[in-house]
Amino acid sequence: MTTSENAPSGTLPAGAPRRVLGTTGPRVFPLGLGCMGMSALYGEADRAESLATIHAALDAGVTLLDTGDFYGMGHNELLINEALRTASAAAREQALTSVKFGALRTVEGGFSGYDGRPEAVRNFLAYSLQRLGRDHIDIYRIARLDPAVPIEETVGAIAEAVEAGHVRHIGLSEVGADTLRRAAAVAPIADLQIEYSLVSRGIEEEILPTARELGIGITAYGVLSRGLISGHFARDRALSPGDFRGMSPRFQGDNLGRNLDLVEALRKVAQGRGVSVAQTAIAWVLSRGEDIVPLVGARSRERLTEALGALEVTLSAADLAAIEEAVPAGAAAGERYPAAQMAHLDSEH
Ligand SMILES: NC(=O)c1ccc[n+]([C@@H]2O[C@H](COP(=O)([O-])OP(=O)(O)OC[C@H]3O[C@@H](n4cnc5c(N)ncnc54)[C@H](OP(=O)(O)O)[C@@H]3O)[C@@H](O)[C@H]2O)c1
Repeated sequence: MTTSENAPSGTLPAGAPRRVLGTTGPRVFPLGLGCMGMSALYGEADRAESLATIHAALDAGVTLLDTGDFYGMGHNELLINEALRTASAAAREQALTSVKFGALRTVEGGFSGYDGRPEAVRNFLAYSLQRLGRDHIDIYRIARLDPAVPIEETVGAIAEAVEAGHVRHIGLSEVGADTLRRAAAVAPIADLQIEYSLVSRGIEEEILPTARELGIGITAYGVLSRGLISGHFARDRALSPGDFRGMSPRFQGDNLGRNLDLVEALRKVAQGRGVSVAQTAIAWVLSRGEDIVPLVGARSRERLTEALGALEVTLSAADLAAIEEAVPAGAAAGERYPAAQMAHLDSEH
């Protein structure tokens, strides 16, 4: 199958639903497409299918394409570049790029810290614009707080890029309430990108209320807990080397078994509603507020179609109670990242 055969038709759905990211951010389709798994961290990806998935998402009205310059060391941005180049003009115009920067990588694929210095921001940005083939990035954010650089300096450098027209909006990723406040005092923040799902509800106590107080939207990632609660993850699934899930505490031994038991409880609720487990998990995140936009990590048109089906699911109070009983807050076994990566999460301190 060639890319052009799968290019979007250019007929975008009229009156497609929208959510607004914060008080100053863009209007976006209620689901964003997270492109990470098309280049890294979830094993081999199929390039033609990845491109077809991006095109199908744009055709369905999806606006937000999320990436990071470190996803496959530039590979993901180049993939998005190709997808947009081969899309219709209408689809290309509607696409909004959300880019994370700052992660330092090694040749072997390791992560060796974060760099949020203003000169690093300008450098990362120059490379990303070139790789994406765009004259601006719609939302730009550091992937993790650089503990050596005050957030005011990092956000200040992005604010200068906004002034210069290279960036439209400023975002943040995995930061806690204090950092949100400090950043918002420097410049308007459109959204906080952070893990949020039935099994990762850490933001509910302090971070989400703070974001709401400050008028900052949420782009939620890991809404399927990286496939764990998608209903498709098998207990005996073989993972290739380099697959994040091979190191993730939630996918190990007893933890995996306990977490998949939660999924089976969720499956019963989903079956009662005649929808899939993944749709139930995505619909649950959508139900948490109009200011929350789930980023789904679909890597195939089949998974994308399933994810988009979540938009048709309205959960009643009884459904929400049944979901809560199946997967109570805090029920997941294992942390959401390995210890070394947890240490980089300002949101967890
Ligand atoms: N800011 C951050 O720190 C951060 C961290 C991680 C991710 N992100 C962003 O958030 C995006 C989403 O994260 P994620 O990929 O970890 O989250 P996810 O959507 O929870 O997980 C994606 C995984 O779920 C599986 N899956 C099964 N059914 C699916 C369905 N119907 N739709 C979509 N996926 C389905 C996919 O498996 P198969 O492909 O094997 O079918 C894929 O491996 C990423 O692409 C990235 O852009 C941000």
